[in-house]
Amino acid sequence: MKKILVTGGLGFIGSHTVVELQNAGFEVVIIDDLSNTTIGVLDKITEITGTKPDFHQIDLRVKNDVKNFFENNKVDGIIHFAAFKAVGESMHKPLDYYENNLGALVYLLQEMRDRKLDNFIFSSSCTVYGQADELPITEKAPVKTAESVYGNTKQIGEEILKDASKAHNLNIIALRYFNPIGAHPSIKIGELPLGVPQNLIPYITQTAAGMREELSVFGDDYDTPDGTAVRDYIHVVDLAKAHIAALERLINKNNKKGFEYFNIGTGKGSSVLEVIKAFEKASGKTLNYKIVPRREGDITAAYADTTIANKELNWKTEKTLEEALGSSWKWQQQQ
Ligand code: UD1
Repeated sequence: MKKILVTGGLGFIGSHTVVELQNAGFEVVIIDDLSNTTIGVLDKITEITGTKPDFHQIDLRVKNDVKNFFENNKVDGIIHFAAFKAVGESMHKPLDYYENNLGALVYLLQEMRDRKLDNFIFSSSCTVYGQADELPITEKAPVKTAESVYGNTKQIGEEILKDASKAHNLNIIALRYFNPIGAHPSIKIGELPLGVPQNLIPYITQTAAGMREELSVFGDDYDTPDGTAVRDYIHVVDLAKAHIAALERLINKNNKKGFEYFNIGTGKGSSVLEVIKAFEKASGKTLNYKIVPRREGDITAAYADTTIANKELNWKTEKTLEEALGSSWKWQQQQ
């Protein structure tokens, strides 16, 4: 049985990926510092799969702790989620973001180099494309100057991986996620935003639940069919499965280059108003919303061309926007 280290394995995407890894027959060891999640998620994963993953509470910024972990654990692959991810916060705390998102990455790669470990999957983001000149966005689209420190950590992270792959003969895949949403169909795991949500779906579900008065729709004067911004919302379970596909590509040595990257989205763009309508349909609730000015830093439209990921990873999304929103709503209701 192959043993896979999942860093940030108790977070939103990490926990869903752990479940899919276990379902696919992998043994999982999780590292998480619990900075943005709770230990209860470990029990929920166990309830879903029937197997408790090995867990280590480690802060990956502590190099010695990282070293100690690898001294005692031999792994066949690493899926690295652990990172800070709040765009706004990253502008006020750039050094914390660079330290956590890039320092930890370097420490992990050094251990891989020193111990001859291989197979690394990195959480990247469609944010590397900025406002792409052409839609849908293919992997050929140029990486644009990052708008945020968070985005910059993803770009620099990819650069580090490319260089490390080349110099140390490591096989690495970066997955450039579009907008992950939804919750596990068991409704045992999902997104746990702390405080006032910044992202659209948690804000919608909290508004529908009466925790927020109304949703602000940021701008209706974009150059899109209905004037609201367009994104590619992907169900987190579909996204989790892309990691298994990428991992199997590396383990089976089907990769074509040492460092590869793929767009992970549905290929379908949805406007904010379309998401609101789909949510109302999925939940049976009417949503309070008003149009307000654009949010600074937002782009007009981003959705993936997934042709390459579909072919090379032998993976495609299976769930609809309504399914994703329905699961987000159920998750919200049982909080
Ligand atoms: C954000 C991050 C991105 C990250 C992604 C997934 C920014 C600039 N980018 O993307 O790096 O990968 O989350 O975590 O923050 N909206 C509203 N009202 C709201 C909230 C959002 O109208 O209360 C709109 C936004 O203007 C946007 C869309 O909904 O058009 C999606 O917003 P959001 O969920 O925050 O994701 P992104 O901004 O696309």
